[in-house]
Amino acid sequence: MSTLNGKMAVVTGGGRGIGKAIALTFAGAGAAVAVAGRNRAALDAVCATIAARGGRAVAVVCDVADAAQVYAAFDTARAALGPCDILVNNAGVTYSARFADTDDALWDQVVRVNLHGAYYCCKAVVPTMIDHGGGRIINIASMAAVVGMPFSVAYSAAKHGLLGLTRSLALELQRYHITANAICPAWVETDMMAGAIDALVEKTGRSRDEARAALLARGGQQRSISPEEVAVAALRLAGPDGATISGEAIMLQ
Ligand SMILES: NC(=O)c1ccc[n+]([C@@H]2O[C@H](COP(=O)([O-])OP(=O)(O)OC[C@H]3O[C@@H](n4cnc5c(N)ncnc54)[C@H](OP(=O)(O)O)[C@@H]3O)[C@@H](O)[C@H]2O)c1
Repeated sequence: MSTLNGKMAVVTGGGRGIGKAIALTFAGAGAAVAVAGRNRAALDAVCATIAARGGRAVAVVCDVADAAQVYAAFDTARAALGPCDILVNNAGVTYSARFADTDDALWDQVVRVNLHGAYYCCKAVVPTMIDHGGGRIINIASMAAVVGMPFSVAYSAAKHGLLGLTRSLALELQRYHITANAICPAWVETDMMAGAIDALVEKTGRSRDEARAALLARGGQQRSISPEEVAVAALRLAGPDGATISGEAIMLQ
């Protein structure tokens, strides 16, 4: 399938987990991919896999919470692969703590990465997308963007904010043929889910299997989702089928 031939995509947090699956899927569909994140070795490994499969990719190191780093990284990506047609705001962090134990620094870091980071990346690409007559913005939010999440209040607040950013951009940018959508998965099998299981084991003394079952039950899930299943949803939004879909919060269960 070459539905993204000739397109350039930026995927933040592309070195592992959901972002890696999206980067590989988009490259497999023909896109040139700028793989962004903080860990150079992980980004290089994803780019090497894409190159070995005959695709084009460049690693761009940046902390999405730092505006200057984001703007420099997008300049690097554009110089290497051309203007961005598809932005995937995937970089994210979560944590597990009672609200009473959530200090200002933790709140600030979680909101900066999950919300400010997406804002900086949108600022970096929207003017060019307008100039080029269109684009796709895909924000990897969470089920926690539409329902509250105990013990992760800052995360849920940031993801609710990300959904507001998505819906507002969708309305403002529709005249420029730029779509903006959020994908809102329940639990996905990545380091993030493993960390949540570890935290539950530590706090409750449950076994890992019990903790996993409790997390899935909390999300009303029959099973966990794979990163590749999230990538399939992202590909649909990025490709021709996604041209008329905007302002949506797509729930994955
Ligand atoms: N796993 C789930 O159950 C689940 C469910 C719903 C939504 N999500 C969302 O899906 C997205 C991806 O999560 P995941 O499960 O793949 O998590 P993950 O395995 O923990 O990966 C997180 C990714 O975000 C990057 N990242 C974190 N902080 C960053 C920063 N300050 N600057 C740049 N990159 C940063 C990481 O890159 P580094 O290598 O630089 O750390 C990594 O690539 C997140 O937005 C998450 O909130 C996950």
